[in-house]
Amino acid sequence: MKKEIFLTISLVLSMSVTFGISKKETSTNIEQVSTSNTKAISNSEKNLQSPAKVVSPGEKLFKDKGCTVCHQVSTKLVGPSLKTIATAYVNNKKGLVAFLKDAGKPIVDPAQASVMHPQIAITKALPPNELDILVNYILSVK
Ligand code: HEC
Repeated sequence: MKKEIFLTISLVLSMSVTFGISKKETSTNIEQVSTSNTKAISNSEKNLQSPAKVVSPGEKLFKDKGCTVCHQVSTKLVGPSLKTIATAYVNNKKGLVAFLKDAGKPIVDPAQASVMHPQIAITKALPPNELDILVNYILSVK
C-alpha cells in the first residue's frame, strides 16, 4: 500500500515536470511566432505608408550623379527646377539629350550656363541607356 502511494506520487511529479517543460517550450514558440508576425506586419505597414519613397531608376541616377545638389523638383535652387526644365523641353526629348551630350544650347537659363556646363561632363559620360533613363525621368516631372 505504501509502495502504491509512493508510485502514484512520483508518477504525478514526473508528469508535472514533463508538462511543465513542454508548456514552457510552447510558450516560447508562441512568443517567437508572434514576434516575427509583428515584424512582418510592421514591415508591410512601412511599405504601405511610404509608396512615395520608392525611387525610380531615373530619380536615383539624378541623385547619384549629384544633380539634386542644384536641382529640386519644383523649387529653383542653384539651377532651375525640374518642372521648369521639363516644361521647356516638352516634346523635345532630342533637344534635352543633345544638351546633356554637350551637343546643344541651353534654353532654360542661358545666362547661368557656365554653372551648368561643367556638369555636362557627367551626363556626357553616361552609357546611352542610362542617359535615356535620366532624360525620361526629367521629362516625367510634372
Ligand atoms: C552646380 C549646380 C548644378 C548641378 C550640380 C547641376 N546643374 Fe543643371 N543647371 C544648373 C544651372 C545654374 C542651370 C541653368 C543654366 C542653363 O539653363 O543651362 C542648369 C540647367 C540645367 C538644365 C537645362 C538646360 C537648358 O537647356 O538650359 C538641365 C537639363 C540640367 N541642368 C540637368 C542637370 C543634370 C542632369 C545634372 C546632374 C548630372 C545637373 N543639371 C547638375 C546648375 C547645376
